[in-house]
Amino acid sequence: MCGIIGYLGHKEAYPIIINGLKKLEYRGYDSSGIAVFYKNGYNLYKTKGRVYELEKKISSCKKKIKGTTGIGHTRWATHGIADHINAHPHVSNSNELIIIHNGIIENYYAIKIILLKNGFTFKSQTDTEVLVNLIEYLKKENKLSLEEAVRISLNEIIGAYSIVVVEKSHPETIIIAKLGSPLSLGINNKEFFVASDPISFINYTKSVLYLKDGEMAILKKGKELDLRKIIDNHRLNPIVKKLKINLKEIEKGEYKYFMLKEIYEQPKTILDTLRGRLLIPEKIICINGVEFNKDIFIHAKCITIVACGTSWHAGLIGEYLLEELTRIPVEVEYASEFRYRNPILGKNDVIIVISQSGETADTLAALKLAKKKGAFVFGICNVVGSSIARNVDAGAYTHAGPEIGVASTKAFTAQITVLILLSLIIGKNRSTINNNRYKFLCKELGLIPEKVDYTLKIVDSIIRKISQIYYNVNNFLYLGRGINFPVALEGALKLKEISYIHAEGYPAAEMKHGPIALVDENMPVVFVAIKEGFYNKIVANIQEIKARKGKVIVIINEDDTQVNMLADHVIKIPSTPEILSPLLTVIPLQLLAYQIAYIRGENIDQPRNLAKSVTVE
Ligand code: AGP
Ligand code: GLU
Repeated sequence: MCGIIGYLGHKEAYPIIINGLKKLEYRGYDSSGIAVFYKNGYNLYKTKGRVYELEKKISSCKKKIKGTTGIGHTRWATHGIADHINAHPHVSNSNELIIIHNGIIENYYAIKIILLKNGFTFKSQTDTEVLVNLIEYLKKENKLSLEEAVRISLNEIIGAYSIVVVEKSHPETIIIAKLGSPLSLGINNKEFFVASDPISFINYTKSVLYLKDGEMAILKKGKELDLRKIIDNHRLNPIVKKLKINLKEIEKGEYKYFMLKEIYEQPKTILDTLRGRLLIPEKIICINGVEFNKDIFIHAKCITIVACGTSWHAGLIGEYLLEELTRIPVEVEYASEFRYRNPILGKNDVIIVISQSGETADTLAALKLAKKKGAFVFGICNVVGSSIARNVDAGAYTHAGPEIGVASTKAFTAQITVLILLSLIIGKNRSTINNNRYKFLCKELGLIPEKVDYTLKIVDSIIRKISQIYYNVNNFLYLGRGINFPVALEGALKLKEISYIHAEGYPAAEMKHGPIALVDENMPVVFVAIKEGFYNKIVANIQEIKARKGKVIVIINEDDTQVNMLADHVIKIPSTPEILSPLLTVIPLQLLAYQIAYIRGENIDQPRNLAKSVTVE
């Protein structure tokens, strides 16, 4: 995944790069590195671990880093272990070319063999070091300019990349290019900022150009931007957009971790997702991306939802919603599986891709495959202008604001909110939902932000108490039925991601087909047991766990009296129609994961081995 950043202008580059890297750390934090260029030379520092360690290392050197061209990288290792040798930037054999890279060069090994035969040597195990040396090799062999050497090299490689390349002897020029991995270019008068995510340069400029796949740019100090096609060097017209991110949204404020802040933002983010779409008094729902393509949805024979991780869980909830309200059959697929199994798709098929980041490589590849096969692709994305958002036929943004914590929370509830709106619109248009139910659900949906707010207030102390009791266990089970089964999956994913406790989610009734063998007096089992739907069935499942001395933690409605008596711990939430309930039931599960990880002293926003946006396969 990796985060890359570059600067070329008249300011000192070091503070811009190091502060930008801190904002990109969510993309990977195995190692970090920077290079700042001066006339005919550069200062390069890298280290294993996080950006603050890099900063510490640099300040302990007491050497002033001066220069107005700089690049920086925070790594999520794909090729080679996470150590300081594999950390970026990587330098070519002659010491002349310096590169940072996000992505994977799939044919790096074949190229490495050729380069080895030509006398090149390698210090790291990365694919990136192979690329920088390929550029050097082609540049020298064919006496090319840097931009031409980069361009020709990129035409030789297979894989995904966003790169920044600088030549030691010409630091007033930097070359950037993109295929597959994200790359945005901030422009402020003739000052250039390059980054995987514009969040890292937003306090300098809001004018941004998102490079498209197959594009490269030659940035020269004080000159206009030169945008080209990598394949044939054809000159392109840059389209610069204005970003609308509010700086407050990317700061932690009073919260210790972004994850907690984001959990507590949900009353607002759900409201933002509904804003302008759910018109309460009139009971009208309008999403432009759906409105303009209404017929496609109405006549869809089936809908396939494709996503990864938490977004896949939202997709599973979408399956319940869409099937219940529209009676269109829905399949939910892992993007990584879907893209490689030659799915049967055609012209009238509807694919919904869901992604917080809009950059997940598997989801993006699935989207492209679906489009190639002629399907209509609708996107549900959080990041405005992201690759997925730009590539879909139509879509709806979730409007949850920047999500920084690696464990997704507010994006999940925003995705569910969009799926509810979508199901209601299609259902109404297909007449698969009667007017009274439609109006009732619209009214209830409008009450959700308040109920989430109330839930956050009433569950806090009980969750802290439960976390104190169970923070040290080795396993957790999460059980739910119907539309709350994916919520159980999501609760388990949240816990394992940030606390490293093994946790599994299951449909409650499925438990007796295997997982029940794990239950003993040490096993906490979390049940989502709200009153509607499968209530009696779930009560029976709770009895089965109690009979085996398991510790039962239940999420129930405030007016429940039955489960109250059975459980060891009770978390009460307000009532809402079952079909909307995931928006409430998931809240205590997010908080439980957070509190447990907090007591265990984990780094909640940046859990080990993970990264926020998975732009590699
Ligand atoms: C969520 O907590 C995870 N970190 C992860 O599963 C995530 O949901 C997944 O990588 C998909 O990301 P996306 O929504 O940005 O596509
Ligand atoms: N393949 C490069 C490395 O392992 C970049 C990794 C990435 O972008 O995730 O260093």
